[in-house]
Amino acid sequence: MQDITARTSFASKQLLLEVRNISQRYQTGSGELGPAVLDDVSLNLKENEIVGLLGRSGCGKSSLLRIVSGLVFPSGGEVSYLGQPVRGPVDGVAMVFQSFALFPWLTVLANVELGLRAKQISKDEARRRALKAIDLIGLDGFESAFPKELSGGMRQRVGFARALVVHPNILLMDEPFSALDVLTAETLRTDLLDLWVEGRMPIKSILMVTHNIEEAVLMCDRIVVLSSNPGRIAAEIGVKLHHPRNRLDPEFRQLVDRIYALMTKPQAPVSPGRDGAFPGLGFGMTLPRVSTNTLAGMIEEIAAEPYMGRADLPALADSLQMEVDELFPVAETLQLLRFAEIEEGDIKLTLAGQHFAEADVDVRKKLFGDHLLAYLPLAARIKLVLDERPTHTARAVRFLEELEDYMSEDYADRTLKSVVNWGRYGELFAYDETSETFSLENPQ
Ligand SMILES: Nc1ncnc2c1ncn2[C@@H]1O[C@H](COP(=O)(O)OP(=O)(O)O)[C@@H](O)[C@H]1O
Ligand SMILES: [Mg+2]
Repeated sequence: MQDITARTSFASKQLLLEVRNISQRYQTGSGELGPAVLDDVSLNLKENEIVGLLGRSGCGKSSLLRIVSGLVFPSGGEVSYLGQPVRGPVDGVAMVFQSFALFPWLTVLANVELGLRAKQISKDEARRRALKAIDLIGLDGFESAFPKELSGGMRQRVGFARALVVHPNILLMDEPFSALDVLTAETLRTDLLDLWVEGRMPIKSILMVTHNIEEAVLMCDRIVVLSSNPGRIAAEIGVKLHHPRNRLDPEFRQLVDRIYALMTKPQAPVSPGRDGAFPGLGFGMTLPRVSTNTLAGMIEEIAAEPYMGRADLPALADSLQMEVDELFPVAETLQLLRFAEIEEGDIKLTLAGQHFAEADVDVRKKLFGDHLLAYLPLAARIKLVLDERPTHTARAVRFLEELEDYMSEDYADRTLKSVVNWGRYGELFAYDETSETFSLENPQ
């Protein structure tokens, strides 16, 4: 078997990390405990594996990783590392973040040495290890450069070097490629995978968070798919493909399709009336920030050749040059507003969606407004309040406060902003940014 790599041939099964029945809740804007962000999440990490935590934005991936790293204590459940409960940051576990806060006044070398500052290591040894990590991660020659002289990709390499220099058993990575441009991200992924496969990384396992399905299939031995609201383990998928993996390999594509289907599957209703993948019920539903332009653009794309009303989501993501994380909220907003239906990883226009695609601007606006009133309780509520008041005006804060009974301030703010934009487009109401007031005046 020519595919056996240095790493897999020494495959052993030591259990490094156990995550048991983790649940997490945060306080909402009004000070009460919010809904469960994570619910009963359990997983293991063994030696010699890369495990991916895959899920959509906001499903609790970073929360889980911070809990695993000991930076945050969970509301329930326990994490243990080498059989010992994790009660704070642990030696042997290092983290790489989405983008690294490097110290601008320190050189690359000094930034990397910082990773060792809390360790009982001589200066010489620290220097030796830092230089080795820098070399390993492809920063040779940049030791005395300052962060501002580096590209984003090189800066992220410094982040990796800083984590690797401590020779952790476990490397935790929270979307470490997502802040980079496509090509830089791919180069860095490939370099890391090469080092991993060749057994040259001074680590035993990787637990990585991603919202990118392809990235997970490219890198991981096992993919743990988290559902949203609350984050629960929806599936665990072993990836047996050999490295280097080829994105065009039919088996690779099949896996990607399968995971897409999994991630768009309607979740079992947690409470009656819960609507699709949107958290919360009715009025208290959290809305994503999606522009009406993007919504209209996706409807047009699905209606046109080659899709003619029904599109495979991975293919659609490709033709719209969108990442999953951008695609899902758009697709789901279309579903919420009944312009499309999502099933088995496909998105299909409804009759209303077809109608929208063919209509002119005025008809589109009318249709959109009607659907907002019919399917979005928050939009209907705002309209009702405006209709009933003699002044036909209402302050935004009144709705924000109501929303904060259901969600954090940030989410309430975002939700209201979405409804403002959508409502304006559908000509349901106007909104004045300065006075933060809704009114029934015509938005022009
Ligand atoms: N410190 C916090 N306080 C309140 N809410 C939080 C906090 N951290 C995360 N959340 C909320 O928990 C949910 C999951 O967030 P996060 O773990 O960052 O998800 P992901 O990394 O999958 O995007 C989100 O609704 C987020 O707003
Ligand atoms: Mg995150």
